[in-house]
This record gives sequence, structure tokens and C-alpha cells, in this order.
Amino acid sequence: MDDAIATAVDEFIVATIAADDEALGAAIESASAEDMPEISVTPPQGRLLTLLARAIGARTILEFGTLGGYSTIHLARALPADGRLLSLEAKPEFAEVARASIDRAGVGERVEIRVGPALETLPALDEEGFGPVDFTFIDADKINTPHYFAWALEHSRPGALIVADNVVRGGALADPHDPDPATKAQREFHETLAEEPRVSATTIQTVGAKGHDGFTLALVES
Ligand code: SAH
Ligand code: DHB
Ligand code: MG
Repeated sequence: MDDAIATAVDEFIVATIAADDEALGAAIESASAEDMPEISVTPPQGRLLTLLARAIGARTILEFGTLGGYSTIHLARALPADGRLLSLEAKPEFAEVARASIDRAGVGERVEIRVGPALETLPALDEEGFGPVDFTFIDADKINTPHYFAWALEHSRPGALIVADNVVRGGALADPHDPDPATKAQREFHETLAEEPRVSATTIQTVGAKGHDGFTLALVES
């Protein structure tokens, strides 16, 4: 697969059915102006998040990894006015940029960003009785994807969806000798899913503007 072809197809999809509106475009521009890494989901992937969260009627959404709030805005748009999205972000300077973009998009009242490494901010959520969660998007530090999944599963309602980004990693997922701990974590994640009776899961490879990667989608059984 030629990367240029995949990128051209993404551009066609964006130009026809998945264009960013002003608020989404501004979120990407703000992130770029602040020199944040250009690793937000693509517009078609963001749209997929909106559609999935809408399809299951999500009212409570949990996100790991806010960055500039681009995926957050897509997800928040799926919520009813009294819905809630909690996004966990390690870097305060990223959270600040995201906050402004999320507010500008008009979904600020539905979104809270908690700053700090997610493994450190999760215990407080337990104490607050956060959940049950309808939709989880795991997109933070990839070595912790299995931990975030375990937490999300424990706090999900039957019928909830859990989506994890960046599991295919240019195909490294298929290589048992890949030394990258982030890849090892995705392989372990799949092995855990295989033995977890509480979910039905699959992984979809993606090509496009961000190269070869993919996401795992897990449905929590009732
Ligand atoms: N979901 C975003 C992209 C997230 S990029 C989008 O698609 O628009 C990954 C983010 O995870 C970065 O902002 C990074 O700072 C954050 N991150 C890294 N380690 C983290 C951790 N331990 N806890 C919470 N966030 C973390
Ligand atoms: C990276 C993180 C992401 O969430 C992503 O979608 C692509 C790349 C990264 O940390 O490099
Ligand atoms: Mg990602």
C-alpha cells in the first residue's frame, strides 16, 4: 500500500463526507500553533468515534489522552446536553489548550479534563463513584493500554464500547520479537481480550493520513 494513495483517499473522504467544521479545524490549528505533536485521530476516525458513541446512546464517556481536545470534541458531540465526558491528560499545558478548544466548540459544559498521569487520577474517580461508563476511548501512553482497558471494563455498563487506538503500530503487532514495550503491551492486550468472557472484541487495521495502524473495539456483554 502506497502511503500517498492512502492519504489521497483520506483527503477524498474528508472533502466529501468527513470535513472538519470550524471548531474542529480550530482545535487542530491551536494544537499545531502550540507545537503539540500532530497525532490526533484523523477526521474520518474522529467521525467514527462520534458515530459509535451516538449509536450506543452514550451518556457517560471516558477518554484517556486529551492532547488538544480534537477527539474529545468529536466524542462530546455524541452526548446529550446532560451527558458527561471525562478526559484524562498527563500534561497541564496540553489540557489548557484543549480546554480552550473544547469551550470554543460549545461543548465545554459536558467536558471535564483531569490533569495528571491517568494511573494516578483514576483512584479519585473510584472514590467519587464515577460511572457506569458507556463509552471509553483509550489513546494515552500505549504501554498502559492494558491497564486502562482493565479499569474501563470494571466501570462499564453492559452494552458499553471500549475503543483503543494505535494497537497495530505499522504492523509491529504481528511481530512477537518487536522490542518496543508499546508493541508488547498491544500484544498482551489482545491475549487478555482473547480470554476475557465479558467482552466481544475485534481489531481493525487502518491506513490513511497517519500511516498503517489500527484500533481495537470491545463490546461489553450483558
Ligand atoms: N486523543 C487525542 C490524541 C491523544 S495523543 C486525539 O486523538 O485528539 C496522547 C495523549 O496522551 C498526549 O496528549 C499525552 O500527553 C497523553 N498522555 C501520555 N501519557 C499519559 C498518561 N500517563 N496519562 C494521561 N495522559 C497521558
Ligand atoms: C502517537 C500517539 C497517538 O495517539 C497516535 O494516534 C499516534 C502516535 C505517539 O505517541 O506517537
Ligand atoms: Mg492515537
